[in-house]
Amino acid sequence: MDLHEVDKFAKGIIIEAGKRIRDAFSHDIKVETKADANDLVTNIDRETEVFFIEQIKAFDSSHKILGEEGMGEGIDSLEGAVWLIDPIDGTMNFVKQHRHFMITIGFFVDGVGKLGYIYDVMREDMFFAMEGQGAWYNDTPLRRLQPLPLEEAVIGINASWVTPNKRVNHEKMTELVQKVRGTRSYGSAAMEIAFVVSGKLDAYISMRLSPWDIGGGTIIAREVGAIATNFKGQPCNLMSQDTFIIANPSIHQRILDHYIEEK
Ligand code: IPD
Ligand code: CA
Ligand code: CA
Ligand code: CA
Repeated sequence: MDLHEVDKFAKGIIIEAGKRIRDAFSHDIKVETKADANDLVTNIDRETEVFFIEQIKAFDSSHKILGEEGMGEGIDSLEGAVWLIDPIDGTMNFVKQHRHFMITIGFFVDGVGKLGYIYDVMREDMFFAMEGQGAWYNDTPLRRLQPLPLEEAVIGINASWVTPNKRVNHEKMTELVQKVRGTRSYGSAAMEIAFVVSGKLDAYISMRLSPWDIGGGTIIAREVGAIATNFKGQPCNLMSQDTFIIANPSIHQRILDHYIEEK
């Protein structure tokens, strides 16, 4: 398989999908809820996923696709050529803020990440990586992450760590928040992962993410030396939901050892 050819195809459909999503603001966006009242989905999430599926199937019908909205046939393993797709990551930002939402896609062959994309639809900014070839922010190569002390780190944390059904030791997380230079919560996991791989954040922590949220990001992470695992320090499982931390390599283990205790 010629990865450069797949990459050219992927970038083309991502840019086209981004254009369609921006155009959608001049039409009706129909908002519905999924698991609960705050779990939003729109017709644009679904239409974008359908667009990707149709394009990929026309490109190579043997490729398998797992998308958040379940518009395709799904997958039961990572065998073969597999696309993990989140058509809009940060749907609440899409609906409420009309910005700060991403298209994110990971392309895997037999479980190995080959191509990763995080595309900021409103800024038209592309974070991208190819296995073993490096990572880019638009046309600019991303540098490998440089070490820094935890005291100087700015970290993204999904605010669910403060809610009653918290999955981590609350006191320890509080210590982490007090230890670091600052914390942020942007509302798009893919955007926060893009910020970590480009050094705008030094870590991002979430109590629960799905394969389509992190598939593309983990491929970019590897190329810049960022470490992405679950809270046990194990490699991310791309077949099920899990806890998630991505961090600068100089602080990843320290955060896990001293500040994150799963309950
Ligand atoms: C969500 C966003 C959000 C994260 C949630 C994800 P969606 O994705 O990434 O930041 O906290 O866990 O589900 O549903 O907007 O694609
Ligand atoms: Ca969603
Ligand atoms: Ca998502
Ligand atoms: Ca989504």
